[in-house]
Amino acid sequence: MKSIEINIQDAVSFAEKQYKANRTSAVEAMTTLHEGNGEGSDFLGWLHLPSSISQELIDRINKTAARLRENCDYVVCIGIGGSYLGAKAVISALSDSFADLYAPAPHNPKVLYAGQNIGEEYTAELEKLLTGKKFGIIVISKSGTTTEPAIAFRIFKEMLENQAGKEAAKDLIVAVTDEKKGALRTLATQEGYETYVIPDNVGGRFSVLTPVGLLPIACAGFDIQKLVAGAVEMENTAAHESEENPVEVYARLRNALYQSGKKIEILVNFNPKLHYFAEWWKQLYGESEGKDGKGIFPAAVDFTTDLHSMGQWIQEGERTIFETVLSVKKPAITRRIPEDAANLDGINYLSGKRIDEVNKMAELGTKIAHVDGGVPNIKIELAKLDEHTLGQLIYFFEKACGVSGYMLGINPFNQPGVEAYKKNMFALLEKPGYEKETEAIKAKL
Ligand code: PA5
Repeated sequence: MKSIEINIQDAVSFAEKQYKANRTSAVEAMTTLHEGNGEGSDFLGWLHLPSSISQELIDRINKTAARLRENCDYVVCIGIGGSYLGAKAVISALSDSFADLYAPAPHNPKVLYAGQNIGEEYTAELEKLLTGKKFGIIVISKSGTTTEPAIAFRIFKEMLENQAGKEAAKDLIVAVTDEKKGALRTLATQEGYETYVIPDNVGGRFSVLTPVGLLPIACAGFDIQKLVAGAVEMENTAAHESEENPVEVYARLRNALYQSGKKIEILVNFNPKLHYFAEWWKQLYGESEGKDGKGIFPAAVDFTTDLHSMGQWIQEGERTIFETVLSVKKPAITRRIPEDAANLDGINYLSGKRIDEVNKMAELGTKIAHVDGGVPNIKIELAKLDEHTLGQLIYFFEKACGVSGYMLGINPFNQPGVEAYKKNMFALLEKPGYEKETEAIKAKL
Protein backbone atom coordinates (compact mmCIF):
# COMPACT_ATOMS: atom_id res chain seq x y z
CA MET A 1 0.00 0.00 0.00
CA LYS A 2 1.51 3.30 -1.11
CA SER A 3 1.39 5.68 1.84
CA ILE A 4 3.30 8.60 0.41
CA GLU A 5 2.79 10.59 -2.79
CA ILE A 6 5.02 13.29 -4.22
CA ASN A 7 3.46 16.16 -6.16
CA ILE A 8 5.82 18.45 -8.04
CA GLN A 9 3.45 20.51 -10.18
CA ASP A 10 3.99 23.69 -8.16
CA ALA A 11 7.77 23.42 -8.23
CA VAL A 12 8.87 22.01 -11.55
CA SER A 13 7.80 25.08 -13.54
CA PHE A 14 10.46 27.09 -11.69
CA ALA A 15 13.26 24.99 -13.17
CA GLU A 16 11.73 23.18 -16.13
CA LYS A 17 14.83 23.28 -18.30
CA GLN A 18 17.19 22.07 -15.59
CA TYR A 19 14.72 19.36 -14.55
CA LYS A 20 14.64 17.99 -18.09
CA ALA A 21 18.39 18.26 -18.45
CA ASN A 22 18.97 16.50 -15.11
CA ARG A 23 17.44 13.24 -16.22
CA THR A 24 20.79 11.86 -17.38
CA SER A 25 22.64 12.77 -14.22
CA ALA A 26 19.80 11.37 -12.08
CA VAL A 27 20.03 8.06 -13.93
CA GLU A 28 23.82 8.06 -13.59
CA ALA A 29 23.61 8.84 -9.88
CA MET A 30 21.07 6.09 -9.31
CA THR A 31 23.19 3.60 -11.27
CA THR A 32 26.31 4.56 -9.33
CA LEU A 33 24.42 4.01 -6.10
CA HIS A 34 23.07 0.63 -7.22
CA GLU A 35 26.40 -0.55 -8.57
CA GLY A 36 28.21 0.65 -5.46
CA ASN A 37 31.07 2.22 -7.40
CA GLY A 38 30.75 5.84 -6.27
CA GLU A 39 32.54 7.75 -3.54
CA GLY A 40 31.76 6.51 -0.06
CA SER A 41 30.51 3.17 -1.35
CA ASP A 42 31.80 1.51 1.84
CA PHE A 43 28.78 3.09 3.50
CA LEU A 44 25.94 1.70 1.40
CA GLY A 45 24.75 -0.79 4.00
CA TRP A 46 21.48 1.19 4.36
CA LEU A 47 20.54 0.64 0.70
CA HIS A 48 19.18 -2.88 1.12
CA LEU A 49 18.93 -2.71 4.87
CA PRO A 50 15.12 -2.81 5.26
CA SER A 51 14.71 -6.01 3.24
CA SER A 52 17.63 -7.65 5.00
CA ILE A 53 16.48 -7.08 8.59
CA SER A 54 15.84 -10.54 9.98
CA GLN A 55 12.83 -11.56 12.02
CA GLU A 56 15.33 -12.80 14.58
CA LEU A 57 16.72 -9.28 15.05
CA ILE A 58 13.24 -7.74 15.32
CA ASP A 59 12.24 -10.36 17.90
CA ARG A 60 15.40 -9.83 19.91
CA ILE A 61 14.92 -6.06 19.92
CA ASN A 62 11.29 -6.46 21.00
CA LYS A 63 12.41 -8.79 23.79
CA THR A 64 14.98 -6.28 25.08
CA ALA A 65 12.43 -3.49 24.81
CA ALA A 66 9.90 -5.57 26.77
CA ARG A 67 12.46 -6.07 29.54
CA LEU A 68 13.16 -2.35 29.75
CA ARG A 69 9.43 -1.53 29.53
CA GLU A 70 8.71 -3.89 32.37
CA ASN A 71 11.43 -2.63 34.67
CA CYS A 72 11.66 1.08 33.94
CA ASP A 73 9.52 4.18 34.23
CA TYR A 74 12.06 6.09 32.15
CA VAL A 75 14.46 4.93 29.46
CA VAL A 76 17.27 7.36 28.80
CA CYS A 77 18.63 7.18 25.25
CA ILE A 78 22.16 8.50 25.20
CA GLY A 79 23.49 9.48 21.78
CA ILE A 80 23.99 12.40 19.43
CA GLY A 81 23.45 13.14 15.73
CA GLY A 82 22.55 10.01 13.82
CA SER A 83 22.66 8.10 17.09
CA TYR A 84 19.52 9.79 18.41
CA LEU A 85 17.67 11.89 15.83
CA GLY A 86 15.98 9.02 13.98
CA ALA A 87 14.53 7.53 17.16
CA LYS A 88 13.39 10.92 18.39
CA ALA A 89 11.82 11.71 15.00
CA VAL A 90 9.73 8.54 14.94
CA ILE A 91 8.84 8.53 18.63
CA SER A 92 7.65 12.13 18.64
CA ALA A 93 5.72 11.70 15.37
CA LEU A 94 3.81 8.75 16.85
CA SER A 95 3.40 9.90 20.45
CA ASP A 96 0.70 11.91 22.12
CA SER A 97 1.95 15.51 22.03
CA PHE A 98 1.84 15.68 25.83
CA ALA A 99 3.07 12.16 26.51
CA ASP A 100 6.00 13.39 28.59
CA LEU A 101 3.74 15.35 30.91
CA TYR A 102 1.70 12.32 31.94
CA ALA A 103 2.97 10.15 34.74
CA PRO A 104 4.67 7.01 33.44
CA ALA A 105 2.30 4.06 33.29
CA PRO A 106 3.33 0.50 34.19
CA HIS A 107 5.12 -1.18 31.26
CA ASN A 108 5.07 2.05 29.29
CA PRO A 109 8.18 4.08 30.14
CA LYS A 110 8.93 7.58 28.98
CA VAL A 111 11.81 7.76 26.55
CA LEU A 112 14.13 10.65 27.38
CA TYR A 113 17.35 11.79 25.75
CA ALA A 114 20.81 12.65 27.02
CA GLY A 115 24.24 13.13 25.49
CA GLN A 116 22.76 15.05 22.54
CA ASN A 117 24.19 18.26 23.96
CA ILE A 118 26.72 19.39 26.56
CA GLY A 119 24.17 21.35 28.57
CA GLU A 120 25.09 21.37 32.23
CA GLU A 121 21.63 22.45 33.38
CA TYR A 122 20.00 19.91 31.02
CA THR A 123 22.10 17.10 32.50
CA ALA A 124 21.60 18.18 36.10
CA GLU A 125 17.85 18.64 35.60
CA LEU A 126 17.55 15.18 34.08
CA GLU A 127 19.44 13.78 37.07
CA LYS A 128 16.98 15.58 39.32
CA LEU A 129 14.03 14.05 37.47
CA LEU A 130 15.52 10.54 37.66
CA THR A 131 16.41 10.70 41.33
CA GLY A 132 14.65 7.84 43.08
CA LYS A 133 13.04 6.70 39.81
CA LYS A 134 13.22 3.36 38.04
CA PHE A 135 15.16 3.98 34.88
CA GLY A 136 17.23 2.23 32.25
CA ILE A 137 19.77 3.38 29.68
CA ILE A 138 20.27 2.73 26.00
CA VAL A 139 23.68 4.12 25.13
CA ILE A 140 24.30 4.51 21.42
CA SER A 141 27.53 5.46 19.72
CA LYS A 142 28.84 3.96 16.52
CA SER A 143 32.39 5.15 17.06
CA GLY A 144 32.06 4.55 20.78
CA THR A 145 34.27 7.56 21.42
CA THR A 146 32.00 10.59 20.99
CA THR A 147 32.47 13.09 23.83
CA GLU A 148 28.87 14.21 24.41
CA PRO A 149 27.36 10.75 24.96
CA ALA A 150 30.48 9.61 26.84
CA ILE A 151 29.98 12.41 29.42
CA ALA A 152 26.27 11.64 29.76
CA PHE A 153 26.84 7.90 30.04
CA ARG A 154 29.44 8.34 32.76
CA ILE A 155 26.97 10.39 34.79
CA PHE A 156 23.81 8.32 34.28
CA LYS A 157 25.59 4.98 34.58
CA GLU A 158 26.97 6.03 37.95
CA MET A 159 23.57 7.28 39.01
CA LEU A 160 21.84 4.06 37.97
CA GLU A 161 24.44 1.93 39.75
CA ASN A 162 24.01 3.99 42.92
CA GLN A 163 20.23 3.76 42.80
CA ALA A 164 19.68 0.20 41.57
CA GLY A 165 22.96 -1.47 42.57
CA LYS A 166 25.77 -2.41 40.20
CA GLU A 167 24.44 -5.89 39.40
CA ALA A 168 20.88 -4.80 38.69
CA ALA A 169 22.15 -1.87 36.62
CA LYS A 170 23.77 -4.30 34.19
CA ASP A 171 20.36 -5.57 33.13
CA LEU A 172 19.07 -2.05 32.72
CA ILE A 173 21.82 -0.86 30.40
CA VAL A 174 21.97 -1.75 26.71
CA ALA A 175 24.79 -0.58 24.45
CA VAL A 176 24.46 -0.09 20.70
CA THR A 177 27.86 0.30 19.09
CA ASP A 178 30.49 -1.02 16.70
CA GLU A 179 31.02 -4.78 16.66
CA LYS A 180 34.62 -4.55 17.80
CA LYS A 181 36.02 -1.02 18.04
CA GLY A 182 35.66 1.87 20.44
CA ALA A 183 35.62 2.61 24.14
CA LEU A 184 31.91 1.80 24.45
CA ARG A 185 32.44 -1.70 23.05
CA THR A 186 35.28 -2.29 25.55
CA LEU A 187 33.19 -0.97 28.43
CA ALA A 188 30.12 -3.01 27.42
CA THR A 189 32.17 -6.20 27.19
CA GLN A 190 33.86 -5.55 30.51
CA GLU A 191 30.61 -4.76 32.31
CA GLY A 192 28.58 -7.51 30.60
CA TYR A 193 25.87 -5.31 29.09
CA GLU A 194 23.55 -6.59 26.41
CA THR A 195 24.77 -5.10 23.13
CA TYR A 196 23.58 -4.50 19.58
CA VAL A 197 25.84 -3.91 16.62
CA ILE A 198 25.70 -0.95 14.26
CA PRO A 199 26.85 -2.36 10.93
CA ASP A 200 30.18 -0.97 9.73
CA ASN A 201 28.72 0.02 6.40
CA VAL A 202 25.85 2.12 7.78
CA GLY A 203 26.73 5.70 8.70
CA GLY A 204 25.11 7.36 11.72
CA ARG A 205 22.55 9.46 9.84
CA PHE A 206 21.43 6.42 7.81
CA SER A 207 21.12 4.18 10.87
CA VAL A 208 17.55 4.70 12.12
CA LEU A 209 16.46 1.31 10.78
CA THR A 210 19.24 -0.48 12.68
CA PRO A 211 19.03 -1.11 16.46
CA VAL A 212 20.11 2.56 16.82
CA GLY A 213 16.55 3.63 16.07
CA LEU A 214 14.61 0.39 16.37
CA LEU A 215 15.43 -0.31 20.02
CA PRO A 216 14.36 3.10 21.43
CA ILE A 217 11.29 3.09 19.16
CA ALA A 218 10.29 -0.35 20.43
CA CYS A 219 10.91 0.83 24.02
CA ALA A 220 8.49 3.67 23.42
CA GLY A 221 5.86 1.04 22.52
CA PHE A 222 5.75 1.41 18.74
CA ASP A 223 5.63 -1.35 16.17
CA ILE A 224 9.06 -1.69 14.59
CA GLN A 225 7.88 -4.53 12.39
CA LYS A 226 5.48 -2.14 10.65
CA LEU A 227 8.14 0.56 10.43
CA VAL A 228 10.50 -1.85 8.71
CA ALA A 229 7.68 -3.15 6.46
CA GLY A 230 7.01 0.42 5.30
CA ALA A 231 10.71 0.90 4.54
CA VAL A 232 10.82 -2.39 2.62
CA GLU A 233 7.91 -1.20 0.54
CA MET A 234 9.69 2.00 -0.38
CA GLU A 235 12.90 0.03 -1.03
CA ASN A 236 10.90 -1.92 -3.64
CA THR A 237 9.07 1.11 -5.06
CA ALA A 238 12.33 3.02 -5.48
CA ALA A 239 14.45 0.06 -6.55
CA HIS A 240 14.73 0.81 -10.24
CA GLU A 241 15.63 3.82 -12.22
CA SER A 242 12.52 5.34 -13.79
CA GLU A 243 11.03 8.78 -14.39
CA GLU A 244 8.19 7.70 -12.10
CA ASN A 245 10.46 6.69 -9.25
CA PRO A 246 9.61 9.20 -6.47
CA VAL A 247 13.19 9.13 -5.19
CA GLU A 248 14.51 10.09 -8.61
CA VAL A 249 11.83 12.77 -9.02
CA TYR A 250 12.71 14.43 -5.71
CA ALA A 251 16.49 14.20 -6.13
CA ARG A 252 16.29 15.48 -9.68
CA LEU A 253 13.97 18.35 -8.87
CA ARG A 254 15.81 19.64 -5.79
CA ASN A 255 19.04 19.67 -7.83
CA ALA A 256 17.28 21.49 -10.67
CA LEU A 257 15.99 24.11 -8.24
CA TYR A 258 19.45 24.45 -6.71
CA GLN A 259 20.94 25.00 -10.16
CA SER A 260 18.36 27.69 -10.80
CA GLY A 261 19.44 29.63 -7.71
CA LYS A 262 17.27 28.11 -4.98
CA LYS A 263 19.96 27.45 -2.42
CA ILE A 264 17.79 26.76 0.63
CA GLU A 265 15.25 23.98 1.02
CA ILE A 266 12.71 24.44 3.77
CA LEU A 267 11.02 21.28 5.00
CA VAL A 268 7.57 22.43 6.03
CA ASN A 269 5.10 20.55 8.16
CA PHE A 270 1.54 21.42 9.04
CA ASN A 271 1.56 18.95 11.93
CA PRO A 272 3.67 19.71 15.02
CA LYS A 273 4.26 15.99 15.55
CA LEU A 274 6.68 16.16 12.60
CA HIS A 275 8.98 18.75 14.17
CA TYR A 276 11.67 16.22 15.04
CA PHE A 277 11.26 14.41 11.75
CA ALA A 278 12.48 17.64 10.18
CA GLU A 279 15.45 17.67 12.60
CA TRP A 280 16.35 14.18 11.41
CA TRP A 281 15.93 15.27 7.77
CA LYS A 282 18.14 18.35 8.34
CA GLN A 283 20.93 16.18 9.64
CA LEU A 284 20.55 13.69 6.81
CA TYR A 285 20.78 16.30 4.08
CA GLY A 286 23.02 18.85 5.82
CA GLU A 287 25.72 16.40 6.81
CA SER A 288 25.48 14.48 3.55
CA GLU A 289 25.50 17.33 1.04
CA GLY A 290 27.16 20.35 2.63
CA LYS A 291 30.72 19.92 1.44
CA ASP A 292 33.25 21.02 -1.16
CA GLY A 293 31.68 24.50 -1.02
CA LYS A 294 28.36 23.11 -2.27
CA GLY A 295 24.99 21.91 -1.07
CA ILE A 296 21.42 23.05 -0.50
CA PHE A 297 21.04 24.46 3.02
CA PRO A 298 18.34 22.37 4.75
CA ALA A 299 16.04 24.40 6.97
CA ALA A 300 12.70 23.57 8.56
CA VAL A 301 9.57 25.27 9.83
CA ASP A 302 6.41 24.21 11.65
CA PHE A 303 3.31 25.75 10.10
CA THR A 304 1.09 27.48 10.88
CA THR A 305 3.17 28.37 13.99
CA ASP A 306 6.10 29.75 12.00
CA LEU A 307 3.88 31.54 9.49
CA HIS A 308 3.66 34.08 12.30
CA SER A 309 7.44 34.42 12.41
CA MET A 310 9.33 33.08 9.39
CA GLY A 311 6.27 33.50 7.14
CA GLN A 312 7.24 37.06 6.31
CA TRP A 313 10.74 36.07 5.19
CA ILE A 314 9.45 33.17 3.14
CA GLN A 315 6.83 35.32 1.42
CA GLU A 316 9.01 38.34 0.64
CA GLY A 317 12.65 37.72 1.54
CA GLU A 318 15.48 36.81 -0.84
CA ARG A 319 14.14 34.48 -3.54
CA THR A 320 16.64 31.69 -2.92
CA ILE A 321 14.33 29.22 -1.24
CA PHE A 322 12.02 26.38 -2.08
CA GLU A 323 9.67 24.42 0.12
CA THR A 324 9.07 20.71 0.55
CA VAL A 325 5.81 20.28 2.41
CA LEU A 326 4.98 17.21 4.48
CA SER A 327 1.21 17.04 4.48
CA VAL A 328 -0.66 14.44 6.51
CA LYS A 329 -3.89 13.57 4.74
CA LYS A 330 -5.91 12.47 7.75
CA PRO A 331 -5.39 13.26 11.42
CA ALA A 332 -6.02 10.33 13.73
CA ILE A 333 -8.42 12.25 15.98
CA THR A 334 -11.53 14.24 15.07
CA ARG A 335 -12.14 17.55 16.84
CA ARG A 336 -14.66 20.09 15.59
CA ILE A 337 -14.83 23.80 16.29
CA PRO A 338 -17.76 24.63 18.57
CA GLU A 339 -20.53 27.18 17.91
CA ASP A 340 -20.58 30.17 20.26
CA ALA A 341 -23.80 32.12 20.68
CA ALA A 342 -22.08 35.46 21.29
CA ASN A 343 -19.57 34.95 18.47
CA LEU A 344 -17.40 37.75 19.89
CA ASP A 345 -14.33 36.27 18.20
CA GLY A 346 -16.19 36.21 14.86
CA ILE A 347 -15.28 32.64 14.04
CA ASN A 348 -18.75 31.11 13.96
CA TYR A 349 -18.27 30.70 10.23
CA LEU A 350 -15.94 27.86 11.24
CA SER A 351 -18.36 26.20 13.64
CA GLY A 352 -18.83 22.53 13.02
CA LYS A 353 -15.73 22.26 10.86
CA ARG A 354 -12.91 19.94 11.83
CA ILE A 355 -9.77 21.77 12.99
CA ASP A 356 -7.95 19.98 10.19
CA GLU A 357 -10.25 21.54 7.56
CA VAL A 358 -8.95 24.94 8.67
CA ASN A 359 -5.41 23.59 8.70
CA LYS A 360 -5.78 22.25 5.16
CA MET A 361 -7.07 25.60 3.93
CA ALA A 362 -4.14 27.29 5.67
CA GLU A 363 -1.88 24.87 3.80
CA LEU A 364 -3.53 25.54 0.45
CA GLY A 365 -3.63 29.30 1.01
CA THR A 366 0.03 29.29 2.02
CA LYS A 367 1.04 27.27 -1.02
CA ILE A 368 -0.74 29.64 -3.40
CA ALA A 369 0.75 32.69 -1.68
CA HIS A 370 4.27 31.27 -1.62
CA VAL A 371 4.18 30.02 -5.21
CA ASP A 372 2.85 33.43 -6.31
CA GLY A 373 5.69 34.93 -4.30
CA GLY A 374 8.32 32.91 -6.18
CA VAL A 375 8.76 29.96 -3.83
CA PRO A 376 8.57 26.55 -5.54
CA ASN A 377 6.49 24.05 -3.58
CA ILE A 378 7.04 20.29 -3.56
CA LYS A 379 4.31 18.40 -1.74
CA ILE A 380 4.82 15.06 -0.07
CA GLU A 381 1.52 13.71 1.09
CA LEU A 382 1.42 11.13 3.87
CA ALA A 383 -1.71 8.98 4.08
CA LYS A 384 -1.51 9.11 7.88
CA LEU A 385 1.01 9.25 10.67
CA ASP A 386 1.81 5.67 11.52
CA GLU A 387 4.80 3.36 11.59
CA HIS A 388 4.25 2.09 8.06
CA THR A 389 4.14 5.58 6.52
CA LEU A 390 7.14 6.76 8.51
CA GLY A 391 9.13 3.71 7.41
CA GLN A 392 8.39 4.60 3.80
CA LEU A 393 9.27 8.23 4.33
CA ILE A 394 12.56 7.45 6.05
CA TYR A 395 13.76 5.20 3.27
CA PHE A 396 12.47 7.64 0.63
CA PHE A 397 14.56 10.49 2.05
CA GLU A 398 17.62 8.27 2.62
CA LYS A 399 17.72 7.02 -0.93
CA ALA A 400 16.93 10.43 -2.39
CA CYS A 401 19.82 11.79 -0.34
CA GLY A 402 22.25 9.29 -1.83
CA VAL A 403 21.05 10.01 -5.38
CA SER A 404 20.96 13.76 -4.84
CA GLY A 405 24.46 13.80 -3.33
CA TYR A 406 25.92 11.96 -6.30
CA MET A 407 24.11 14.32 -8.67
CA LEU A 408 25.74 17.19 -6.81
CA GLY A 409 29.13 15.59 -7.28
CA ILE A 410 30.01 15.10 -3.64
CA ASN A 411 30.49 12.08 -1.38
CA PRO A 412 27.21 11.96 0.55
CA PHE A 413 28.47 9.39 3.04
CA ASN A 414 31.32 11.14 4.82
CA GLN A 415 31.41 14.11 7.17
CA PRO A 416 34.98 15.43 7.29
CA GLY A 417 33.76 18.87 8.33
CA VAL A 418 32.47 17.77 11.72
CA GLU A 419 36.02 16.98 12.85
CA ALA A 420 37.13 20.64 12.86
CA TYR A 421 35.25 21.67 16.01
CA LYS A 422 36.24 18.44 17.77
CA LYS A 423 39.92 19.02 17.08
CA ASN A 424 39.74 22.55 18.48
CA MET A 425 37.68 21.48 21.48
CA PHE A 426 40.13 18.71 22.34
CA ALA A 427 43.06 21.10 21.92
CA LEU A 428 41.40 23.68 24.17
CA LEU A 429 40.59 21.03 26.78
CA GLU A 430 44.21 19.79 26.59
CA LYS A 431 43.25 16.22 25.70
CA PRO A 432 46.30 13.94 25.91
CA GLY A 433 47.73 13.48 22.40
CA TYR A 434 46.67 16.98 21.33
CA GLU A 435 49.70 18.84 22.80
CA LYS A 436 50.74 20.41 19.48
CA GLU A 437 47.19 21.49 18.64
CA THR A 438 46.82 22.93 22.16
CA GLU A 439 49.93 25.02 21.69
CA ALA A 440 48.79 26.21 18.26
CA ILE A 441 45.25 27.11 19.30
CA LYS A 442 46.39 28.89 22.45
CA ALA A 443 48.69 31.03 20.34
CA LYS A 444 45.61 32.19 18.42
CA LEU A 445 43.69 33.30 21.49
O1 PA5 B 1 25.83 10.87 10.88
C1 PA5 B 1 26.83 10.77 11.57
O2 PA5 B 1 27.75 10.00 11.26
C2 PA5 B 1 27.01 11.57 12.83
O3 PA5 B 1 26.01 12.50 13.02
C3 PA5 B 1 27.04 10.63 14.03
O4 PA5 B 1 25.85 9.93 14.10
C4 PA5 B 1 27.27 11.39 15.34
O5 PA5 B 1 28.40 12.19 15.26
C5 PA5 B 1 27.41 10.43 16.51
O6 PA5 B 1 28.46 9.56 16.29
P1 PA5 B 1 28.64 8.24 17.13
O7 PA5 B 1 27.47 7.37 16.92
O8 PA5 B 1 29.90 7.64 16.63
O9 PA5 B 1 28.75 8.65 18.59
